[in-house]
Amino acid sequence: MINEKVQDVLNSQINKEFYSAYLYLAMSAYFDKVGLYGFSNWMRVQAKEEVDHGMILFDYIVERDGKVNLTHIDEPDKEFTCPMQIFEKSLEHEKYVTDSINCVASMSEDECDLATRHFIDWYISEQVEEEANVMNVIKKLKMFGDDKSALYHLDKELGKREYKTHTYSGIS
Ligand code: FEO
Repeated sequence: MINEKVQDVLNSQINKEFYSAYLYLAMSAYFDKVGLYGFSNWMRVQAKEEVDHGMILFDYIVERDGKVNLTHIDEPDKEFTCPMQIFEKSLEHEKYVTDSINCVASMSEDECDLATRHFIDWYISEQVEEEANVMNVIKKLKMFGDDKSALYHLDKELGKREYKTHTYSGIS
């Protein structure tokens, strides 16, 4: 059986991961609208990874004979103006998710739920990668400013991002 307080924060984390998928899909829709299909691809891959993050938590709760509690997902932010603004919003969001994962880790430690503490290590490492991926795009956008030709090439590069599935059995 899983500790109830830990189960609550894990369920809340599922909601945050699915919200993240929603947010990145909204960003993808913006990029489709302005014809930046590579940027849109990058966001769609990100959205799929977020669904995986949610499902890994889901399957972990099931394995611990806990109760999955799916709650209302907020409408995502849709105030988008340009690639830099969108990636800065993404970075801010990922930092928020990192803080939330760190809280799951410290809560599981406080409650002596060492199985969850061990499980959440995968998310701690994943968040380092998540923030770095977004930061890499921000650095490139900063480097060439308003150069349209460079933006065209970056769009091509981001179009090559491929989705790699993550599952609970794959990480445990
Ligand atoms: Fe699942 Fe982007 O954090």
